[in-house]
Amino acid sequence: MNILVTGGAGFIGSHTLIELYSAGHTAVVVDNLSNSSQESLRRVAKIIGIAEIPFYNVDIRDREGLEKVFACHHFDACIHFAGLKAVGESVAKPWEYYDNNISGTLTLLDVMRRNGCKSIIFSSSATVYGDPAEIPISEQCPKGQCSNPYGWTKSMLEQVMTDMQHADTEWNVVLLRYFNPIGAHQSGTIGEDPNGIPNNLMPYITQVAVGKRPELGVFGNDYDTPDGTGVRDYIHVVDLARGHVAALQKVGQGSGLSVYNLGTGHGYSVLDVVKAFERINGVRIPYSIKPRRAGDIATCYSNPEKANRELGWKALYGIDEMCRDSWRWQSQNPDGYATK
Ligand code: NAD
Ligand code: WQD
Repeated sequence: MNILVTGGAGFIGSHTLIELYSAGHTAVVVDNLSNSSQESLRRVAKIIGIAEIPFYNVDIRDREGLEKVFACHHFDACIHFAGLKAVGESVAKPWEYYDNNISGTLTLLDVMRRNGCKSIIFSSSATVYGDPAEIPISEQCPKGQCSNPYGWTKSMLEQVMTDMQHADTEWNVVLLRYFNPIGAHQSGTIGEDPNGIPNNLMPYITQVAVGKRPELGVFGNDYDTPDGTGVRDYIHVVDLARGHVAALQKVGQGSGLSVYNLGTGHGYSVLDVVKAFERINGVRIPYSIKPRRAGDIATCYSNPEKANRELGWKALYGIDEMCRDSWRWQSQNPDGYATK
C-alpha cells in the first residue's frame, strides 16, 4: 500500500517508516517540522536503503498544501501522527493545541475524503482513559476526564473519527492508544530528540546519562505503588511501529471502526526504569525525590490482549532493550539530530 504519513519526521513516525518499507509498503511524509528535523528522514532513507523518502513540508492545517500532495499521489491509507504533544505546554497554550491538533485533523480528514482516501490510523493515547477505572486497562475501560488540553484533543478527535465512521461506513478508522513509547532503532541513528528540557522520563534519564543534566527529579515517591513512584507501561518504539503495520493489514480488510491499546501489559516504576537503565548500560543516574507533578496518576498499564488477538501483534522487547536502545541513540547523538 502507499501510505500518507503525517508527522513522519517525528519520533514514532520515523520508526514507523522503516517498518512500513520493510513490510513492502511505500510512504509519503507530510510534516511541518515544528518538532522535528528533516535529518531524521535522511537517516531513515539510509536505513531502508533508498535514495529518499518523499517529503512535503506542509502543515496539516493548510488545505491547499494538502490538496497539492493528494494531486501528486494516490494513497491507500493515512497514518496520522502529526500533532503537538507536550502536556505542560498544552496547559499554557490551549488554543494552539486545539488549533493544531483539532483544526489540523479536521482539515486532513476532509481532504482525505474528497480524494477518496477513507482509511486512517490515528495516534491516540492512554491519556484518554484519564485516571483509569480499571488496571490493567482494556479498551472496555470507559474514557475519563483528561487533565490537560493535549489529552482532550486526543479524546475529542477519537470522537470525531468515530462519528464520521458511523455516518459513512466506507471509512476504516483504527484508533491506536499508545502507552509510553521509549527506546530507539537498533542502529542508534534515529530516536527521540526533544526540544529543550525533556518532559518525559526516558529522554530525561538519557540526558542525565550523557552529562547534559546533573540529576533526574523523581516526581513523587508516596504513590500507592510498590516503591511509591509512578508505574507506567513502557513500550519499545520499534514494537509500536510494527503495531501500525499490523493495523494497516486490518484496514486493508475493511475494518470499519476499531480501537486498540498498544502496550506491553507490564508496569514499571520510575525507580525500576532507573535501575534497569543503570544495570544494562553501566551508567549511573543520580536522582532526587521531588514533589508530585500536577496531573500525574499513580499507575497506568495496559491489557494489550485485543491487539494481540485481532492484529496478531505483540510487543517483543522488554525494559532492558528499551533502556539499551535509548542509550545507544543518545550516546551516539548527544545533541540529537544536530549531532554532526
Ligand atoms: P513528535 O513530535 O516527535 O512527532 C510529531 C510530528 O508531527 C513532528 O514531526 C511535528 O513536526 C509534526 N507536526 C506537528 N504539528 C503538525 C502540523 N500542524 N502539520 C504537520 N506536521 C505537524 O511526536 P511523537 O512522539 O512521534 O508522537 C506522534 C504522535 O503520537 C502524536 O500525535 C502524539 O500525540 C502521539 N502520541 C505520542 C506519545 C508519546 O509519548 N510519544 C504517546 C501517545 C500518543
Ligand atoms: C512517566 C513517569 C512521571 C519525568 C506522558 C503523557 C501521555 C503520553 C506519554 C502522549 C511518571 C515520572 C517523568 C521526570 C519523573 N504522551 N517522571 N521525572 O506522564 O506517563 O505520559 O507521555 O500521549 O499523554 O502524559 O509519561 O514519561 O512524562 O512520565 O519522575 O523528569 O515518570 O511522574 O510517573 P506520562 P512521562
